[in-house]
Amino acid sequence: MYRTHTCGELRIANLNEQVTLAGWVQRTRKMGGMTFVDLRDRYGITQLVFNNEVDADLCEQANHIGREYVIQIDGVVAERSSKNSKIPTGDIEIIVCSLNVLNTSAIPPFTIEDESDGGDDIRMQYRYLDLRRQCVRKNLELRHRMAFEVRRYLDSKGFLEVETPVLIKSTPEGARDFVVPSRMNQGQFYALPQSPQTFKQLLMVSGFDRYFQIVKCFRDEDLRADRQPEFTQIDCEMSFVEQEDILEMFEGMSRHLFKTIKGIDLPKLPRITWHDAMKFYGSDKPDTRFEMRFVELMDVMQGYGFSVFDEAKYIGGICAKGAATYTRKQIDQLTEFVKRSQIGAKGLVYARIEADGNVKSSVDKFYTQDVLQQLKGAMSAEPGDLILIMCGNDANKTRKQLCELRLEMGTQLGLRPKDKYSCLWVVDFPLFEWNEEDQRFYAMHHPFTSPKPEDIPLLDTNPGAVRANAYDMVINGVEVGGGSIRIHESNLQHKMFELLGFSPEKAEEQFGFLMNAFKFGAPPHGGLAYGLDRFVSLFAELDSIRDCIAFPKNNAGRDVMIDAPAALDQTQLDELALIVKQHTNN
Ligand code: AMO
Repeated sequence: MYRTHTCGELRIANLNEQVTLAGWVQRTRKMGGMTFVDLRDRYGITQLVFNNEVDADLCEQANHIGREYVIQIDGVVAERSSKNSKIPTGDIEIIVCSLNVLNTSAIPPFTIEDESDGGDDIRMQYRYLDLRRQCVRKNLELRHRMAFEVRRYLDSKGFLEVETPVLIKSTPEGARDFVVPSRMNQGQFYALPQSPQTFKQLLMVSGFDRYFQIVKCFRDEDLRADRQPEFTQIDCEMSFVEQEDILEMFEGMSRHLFKTIKGIDLPKLPRITWHDAMKFYGSDKPDTRFEMRFVELMDVMQGYGFSVFDEAKYIGGICAKGAATYTRKQIDQLTEFVKRSQIGAKGLVYARIEADGNVKSSVDKFYTQDVLQQLKGAMSAEPGDLILIMCGNDANKTRKQLCELRLEMGTQLGLRPKDKYSCLWVVDFPLFEWNEEDQRFYAMHHPFTSPKPEDIPLLDTNPGAVRANAYDMVINGVEVGGGSIRIHESNLQHKMFELLGFSPEKAEEQFGFLMNAFKFGAPPHGGLAYGLDRFVSLFAELDSIRDCIAFPKNNAGRDVMIDAPAALDQTQLDELALIVKQHTNN
């Protein structure tokens, strides 16, 4: 037997027991005639003691073991004289009587401790060592528990987990596909699924009724903190349901996760329409941990000779509670923040509410105190508050800029703590999104999303105004999941393809299989998919989803550990009949 206990298991109750442990050497310390070794495994750290006076040979052996050696020891559990309250095994230590080195180790490139001396790049290159660190491993343990609870919940509701293929044809989720050349069908390519969307709809046609899958999805898009080229969805679909049934079922799943994993009782989720989310927060994924809603100020601020406002198509403000203490320098920094190219605003107007209720603003010369008092009223501002105003010619663009400012102020004022959760549904998304560049509509969610029945007549007259039976779940400003009720009638689906600019031939080529299936009795159905990585990273309070993925890609889409992507051998290329253009990598 390699071990009687793990390194996280022994307590004062085990005193005087004879035990065998195995694990990795985190560190060794020599103090006088004693050598202390911290032995680590997945479960924790146990202190080992080698006493020179009791067994000089054994102690000498211990002095020669290096960091990350794999060892096995026999010994007796003893009470520590100086206890360590920071670890669960901190009351005891093992007085070692025999040592067996199971394997040596090269010197690791960084210290395998929570506070490591290794930078991001080196830790990614040696990710298997990084994963030995408790702070990294615990995120994967959390991920496991969440996936387990998801399965438990969905199983209890009658969902079947069904695997769908990975080598498929392009899916219309809106990102670029990763493609795989076919050797047996030269010149042809599979696409990796951006999601199992069409397959889960086919499973509904097959009568599976309630499907789910914890599934890898692949999207070739620009990477950000909350995006990886391969990521995991909790993908779900149900038959004979309306939007309300889906919201109910998956609110239940989120409630189950919050309760079992975080011990939090999630209140009934508020719902906000997409339209209101854009109007009050400038975002379809508002961070509602704090208020600071936008107030439109066209009526209040236009017409007093301040040309910047007078010529604007949109003027909006936010009220930062208690921020009147902001210095000129801090406000200048905020102005610089909104002027950065990523945000691209022209400037920022501010107004402080002073202790006596008077308003002092950066545009005082255009506005009388009377008008400024109206501003104060419109913003529901009180003494000590700071009003920040932005304007522009494009209302949506300006709202997005104001959204960035709102989030920045929320951060600066400490209103976005990671351990506070604000969860909501955003509903009534528009069915289409107009693309200026291409001068055409795109599906906001995907082409299978059904319009709200009462908006169907608008498909012919004003497609841009049609609302969809589509919804997103948002937690702390992160879109954790989204879905829709699907179109299940061929005629409506054909119309949708037409409006999206697909010729009948193109629609047939891409989605013929689905349209055909719909001829054989497709039930009304709908569903959604959660981003598991995003859900876990919110629960783990991480800044990036990378930290809850065992082997993630870096921002350039590379796995620096296995050095992928990589060139192929000429033989492989020949087999696949691929010709690669010469590339200079810089
Ligand atoms: P959608 O495209 O909204 O919907 O994706 C669902 C959820 O997946 C997560 N997600 C990502 N997570 C990490 N990295 C990425 N690159 C990434 N892209 C998306 C998000 C998102 O909310 N088939 C539909 C679902 C449906 O209609 O049922 C779909 O894929 O958390």
